[in-house]
Amino acid sequence: MTPDLDAVHQARRRRLTARSLIGGDPALRAAYRLCRRTTRRHDPAIYVLIQLMPTVLRPAGWALWAAASVLDDLADQQDAEPADRAARVEAWAEALQGDLAAGTSRDPVRHALVDTALRWRLDLSGLRGAMSSTRDDTHGRHFADWAAWRSWCSEEVLPWADQVRHLFEQAGAPMALRLDRQEDYARFVDGAQLTDVLTDLGSDLVQGRLLLPQEALDAYPGAEDDLRLRRWSPAAAALIGAMTDLARQWVTRPAMTRGMHPGAATVLDTSACLMRAQLGAVDAAGPALLKRSPRPSLVTRARILAPARIRSRLAWSLTSLTVPGPRRSAVTASAPDPAAEDTALGPPPPHPDGARPPRIAADRMPSHVAVVMDGNGRWARQRGLPRSEGHRVGAAAAHEMVYGALEIGLRHLTLYAFSTENWKRDTGETSTILEAIRRDLDEGPIRDLDVRQRWSGRPDHLPEELVQALQREERRTRARTGLTLTVCINYGGRDEIARTAAALAEAARAGDVIPRLIGEDDFARHLPHPDMPDVDLLWRTGNEQRTSNFLPWHATYAELYFTPGYWPDVDRRDLWQAITEYSRRQRRHGAATLISPRQPPPAPSRPI
Ligand code: FPP
Repeated sequence: MTPDLDAVHQARRRRLTARSLIGGDPALRAAYRLCRRTTRRHDPAIYVLIQLMPTVLRPAGWALWAAASVLDDLADQQDAEPADRAARVEAWAEALQGDLAAGTSRDPVRHALVDTALRWRLDLSGLRGAMSSTRDDTHGRHFADWAAWRSWCSEEVLPWADQVRHLFEQAGAPMALRLDRQEDYARFVDGAQLTDVLTDLGSDLVQGRLLLPQEALDAYPGAEDDLRLRRWSPAAAALIGAMTDLARQWVTRPAMTRGMHPGAATVLDTSACLMRAQLGAVDAAGPALLKRSPRPSLVTRARILAPARIRSRLAWSLTSLTVPGPRRSAVTASAPDPAAEDTALGPPPPHPDGARPPRIAADRMPSHVAVVMDGNGRWARQRGLPRSEGHRVGAAAAHEMVYGALEIGLRHLTLYAFSTENWKRDTGETSTILEAIRRDLDEGPIRDLDVRQRWSGRPDHLPEELVQALQREERRTRARTGLTLTVCINYGGRDEIARTAAALAEAARAGDVIPRLIGEDDFARHLPHPDMPDVDLLWRTGNEQRTSNFLPWHATYAELYFTPGYWPDVDRRDLWQAITEYSRRQRRHGAATLISPRQPPPAPSRPI
């Protein structure tokens, strides 16, 4: 991560807090507060790890952890029969499905979780298996061997950990794992689970549970019987000693975080240190382990956490995160912008006819719309005007798109303003387009809206003044959260892919990636804007049905939408129409069954 002082200054000038992210809805704020308290009470070590995440990610961390804890509690309720407990877990998981479709919930933990999922575009369907596994825990567990024990772990624990990884990914600070380190990661998660099992041994035994594989128990004759009778014998001590050694080995994976974003790496490395301290406490507990869950001393924890806090604060202060704007879904579409109180930025000017955006269900809303703004020249010719006039009015249509995107609550809008092929045009025309863009950056109406502006494309051949204005606006607006507007200027899709391949080749030369193991994730991480999500909807005006070298990597699974009118004639209502059309489409991503429009394609390998 290159230190970027501008980023630091920006972050200081306008602190992005969890409060400014969640907004003013009192029920939602209370829901997140409850999740925070639940996490702290249920698992103090997890709570401190979440505190090492950037402020804006913490509410999502609490919501995920609180949901997992609530399910655990439902599965554990000692006052109920196993079948009842299983039914309660099942009912909670089912209610979540309905709440996700509605975009809200009456249950506070689900309310926060649904908000987190929609805000950060997390696909919670990956948790269904984990929830079913928690439900099945109610009937007791027996593992014949380590293989069975590990598959329980990967079914029940890994999906929750993966949600946290996706969260970091969505924020633009991926916990990216090289393919050769995925095994390390799975072991690390096994180690975390084994640490938990050992810590809670006493309370589990009270409830008749011994969550270790038979294979391990049999290696220490007599240990199982002694533990079940809650008798601390040499065999039991030897078994627990061996298990803590194994857990320590599993959580110690120094290579796993190499090359990872330093903030994300700090979270994982610190969790390994805390788990080792926890295992030290298990070792030191002796017979007391059968009575209560041991905890490392305050001094030990402080020694681990103090430097981790400094490291993580520094790492995050140097990172510009992609923060989602306020959610506007079916439920909140017409509500006033709750983030407005936190910013001096004004709302977009209203449509001259007073048109308002349609209500789109949260799970039908695209996250990223990309537009090929075609037809400026023909529009001008039709009216006997110079082509430059088409581009001037076309720029006003681009403003309309931004207004419409803000009003409907779109997170990413990408506009194709000037392609690498556009240099073939007459220099008068190229200068007109580029000059219009520069003027817009200096004095246009987008400047004071809640828009994070970015540029994608090559700097060569562009006027120096334009490049400087683009970079200046990127820096000036980087902390904004409403809409990410990426304008593609001197952009070519193949050029982007070639540059990414060159960056990967450099990384391979530096030993950061192994060429034969390079996968889609590695490629995506080396793109010029690694946090740009896949395009959900690609719209082209001007009666042409081509994608013309526009975002080939991101638009592979985009829904295509072509309209006959020329670009200068469109206004925000056309964008809303495009989004409405998208919301009715059924997306498959190569699968046999239908996928809701918002769900990302299945990872990691995409069927053709
Ligand atoms: C394609 O129409 C349009 C362009 C190559 C330029 C688009 C640029 C703008 C609309 C200005 C953008 C400004 C901001 C503020 C982002 P064309 O000229 O190819 O039309 P034709 O196909 O009818 O000839």
